[in-house]
Amino acid sequence: MGFSKDSCCVCMLQLFIVVCLIVQCVDVKVHADLNATLTVNASLASARRIPDTLFGIFFEEINHAGAGGLWAELVSNRGFEAGGPNTPSNIDPWSIIGNETYINVVTDRTSIFERNKVALRLEVLCDSTCPADGVGVYNPGFWGMNIEQGKKYKVVFYARSTGPLNLTVSLTGSNGVGSLASTVITGSASDFSNWTKVETVLEAKATNGNSRLQLTTTTKGVVWLDQVSAMPLDTYKGHGFRNDLFQMVADMKPSFIRFPGGCFVEGDYLRNAFRWKASVGPWEERPGHFGDVWKYWTDDGLGYYEFLQLSEDLGALPIWVFNNGVSHNDEVDTSSVLPFVQEALDGLEFARGDPTSKWGSLRAAMGHPEPFNLKYVAVGNEDCGKKNYRGNYLRFYSAIRHAYPDIQIISNCDGSSTPLDHPADLYDYHIYTSANDMFSKSTAFNRVTRNGPKAFVSEYAVTGNDAGQGSLLAALAEAGFLIGIEKNSDIVNMASYAPLFVNANDRRWNPDAIVFNSFQHYGTPSYWMQLFFSESNGATLLNSSLQATGSNSLIASAITWQNSADKKTYIRIKAVNFGASAVNLKISFNELDPNSLQSSGSSKTVLTSPNLMDENSFLQPKKVAPINSLLQNVGKDMSVTVPPHSFTSLDLLKESSNLKMPGSDSSSSSSV
Ligand code: AHR
Repeated sequence: MGFSKDSCCVCMLQLFIVVCLIVQCVDVKVHADLNATLTVNASLASARRIPDTLFGIFFEEINHAGAGGLWAELVSNRGFEAGGPNTPSNIDPWSIIGNETYINVVTDRTSIFERNKVALRLEVLCDSTCPADGVGVYNPGFWGMNIEQGKKYKVVFYARSTGPLNLTVSLTGSNGVGSLASTVITGSASDFSNWTKVETVLEAKATNGNSRLQLTTTTKGVVWLDQVSAMPLDTYKGHGFRNDLFQMVADMKPSFIRFPGGCFVEGDYLRNAFRWKASVGPWEERPGHFGDVWKYWTDDGLGYYEFLQLSEDLGALPIWVFNNGVSHNDEVDTSSVLPFVQEALDGLEFARGDPTSKWGSLRAAMGHPEPFNLKYVAVGNEDCGKKNYRGNYLRFYSAIRHAYPDIQIISNCDGSSTPLDHPADLYDYHIYTSANDMFSKSTAFNRVTRNGPKAFVSEYAVTGNDAGQGSLLAALAEAGFLIGIEKNSDIVNMASYAPLFVNANDRRWNPDAIVFNSFQHYGTPSYWMQLFFSESNGATLLNSSLQATGSNSLIASAITWQNSADKKTYIRIKAVNFGASAVNLKISFNELDPNSLQSSGSSKTVLTSPNLMDENSFLQPKKVAPINSLLQNVGKDMSVTVPPHSFTSLDLLKESSNLKMPGSDSSSSSSV
C-alpha cells in the first residue's frame, strides 16, 4: 500500500504539530514563567526613612586606583625615591635615553628636600657628538601617559647643573618618536648652580594615550633632576582628580567615602603603612612610600588633604580609616600606642581644627582654611582578631571621644553575631563570597539585635569564579544583598562595595567596580548595579511584602523619593530575579489614590545579559549595562515581567509631590 502525495503532506503536518507541542512542553518546563505578587503599602505611616548615609564608596589605594588612576599626575616615581633611600638605586619606571658612551645616570642623596633626599644625577659625556635628539631620561607614566590634543600640561621639576643648562622637555609617543609638545629650558651656570624650580606649560598638538615625558640635552656637563611632575591642567575643579574617573564616581551619588584602605592602611609591616603626616604639605616634600600589601610605590600625591578634598567635591562625608598600631605582621603594644593616638588626634585637628591651630594652619596653607566635614573615623581595618586591637582601640576611643564628642567611631569587630565588648558607634562588616551565598545574605541583618552600634558594611563583593573580573552573576547577587541592606537600614547605616577601582595594567584584586587604563574606563556590572541604589540615600522605604509561588529567587523592595532634578515624587520598585525563569510580577499598592500613579513620566530600567558570566571590557564597555525604557500600564494594580537573571527597577511617577517624609526616629518599623 502506497501513500498518496496528499496523505503524505497531512502526515508530515501532523508530525510537525506533535513535535511542536513536545518542544513547547519542554520549553514550558525549562522556562516556565513564575508568578509573584508584591504588595506595597504606599502610606508613609508605615514607612521608614533610609539613612542619608546608606550607600557610599570605599576608595582604597589598591590596583593603582589613585597613583596612576584617579590622581591625574602623569609621572610615576617623580622624586626617584621608589628605589629606596640607599643610592645608587633603581629608578624604575624611568629609563635612560642614550648609551654609556654618551651619558651616565645614577641616583645620589643630594636633593634639596629633607624628607626625600634621593635625586637623579646625569653626567652628559657628549656635546656636538651627542645623538641628534639628545640624551637624558624619560618617564612612561603609569603604562603610558594620556596626552590629548589642545589640552595643557604643567611640567614642574627641580634642576641643578655644573654648567649652562639646555634641556628639552617633551611629550612624545611611547618610543620617543612623534613629538606631541616640547619646550627648551635654558639657563646659565649661575642660574642653576643651586637647586632651581622650573615650571612650564606644554600644549599638546596631537593625541596619544600611550605617551611619555622626556628630558633631554646635547650639552656636556652634570645635571641633577628631582621632583619631576606633569599634571594635566584639566582636572576636576583643578583639584587634581582625573575628570572621567571622578565623573564615574560622582554618578553613583555616594553619601560617604571611606579611605584610604583597606590593607593599605595596615601595611604588611607598620613601617610601610600609610601615615597621614607623610602625605600632606607641598607635594615636592612628601617622601612617598611603598605600599607593601599591594606591592607598589606611591608618591602620595593623593594624600590625606586630597582625600578630604575629594570627599568635599563629591558631596560625600569623609570616613577616615587610620592605622591603630597594627599591621598584618607586627603590632605596637597598647602601652606604647600613644604616639599613634596623638597622630590620629593631629589628623583630626588637620581636618577640622581652627586655621590658627598647629595642624589646621597647615590645612589652611594648603588652600582650605575652612574645616573639612570629618565626622567619622575607623580605628584600623580588619584588625579585630589582632592581639592588641581591643587595648589599642580603647585608647583611641577615649582620646577621640574626649576631644571630639561628635565624631562617630567605627570598630573593626563585627557586632552582628555577638554584641561588642567595647563601646563604638558603628562596627565594620566585610563580606567577600560566592554569588549564591551573597544572594542568601539578603536576610543577614533581619535578626541582628537593634540595640547597640549600627552596622557599616564597609566592604562587600562577590569574588572568585562567580565574579571573574566582574560578571552579571556577581552584580545580581550583590543587588539582592543590597535590597536586604536597604530593608534593614534601621540597623545597617552604611554600605560600600570593594574595591572601587582597578587599573587594568595592575590587577591586584578582582573584581572591581570601575576599570580603567590611561585613557579609557568602563563600569563592571557591579558598578551599574550600584547606580540602581543612587536615589536610596535619605529616601523613604515603603512597607512591602512579596509572595512568590515556586521561586525564592526573587527579592523586591519599594522606596519613594523626590527627584532633585525635576522635583517630582517617584516610587521606585526594585526587583532582582536571580533565577532562570521569567517572573510575572503583580504589583499592588495599598493606601494609594487610584489615579495617583502616571504612565507618562514612569520608566523601567533593566540590567541583564544573555549569559550570566557576561562581563564588560574596553571593547564592549556596555555589554552589561542598564537599559531604560518607558513604562506603560502604570497603576494601583499593575503587572510587569521580570526577565530571568535580571535586576529591574520601575520608577513610577506620583501625581502628588507634597509628601511629608517621615523622620528617621519617628516611624521605625521592622516589617519593611
Ligand atoms: O578590598 C580589598 C581588601 O579586602 C581590603 O584591602 C581589605 O580590607 C580586605 O581584606
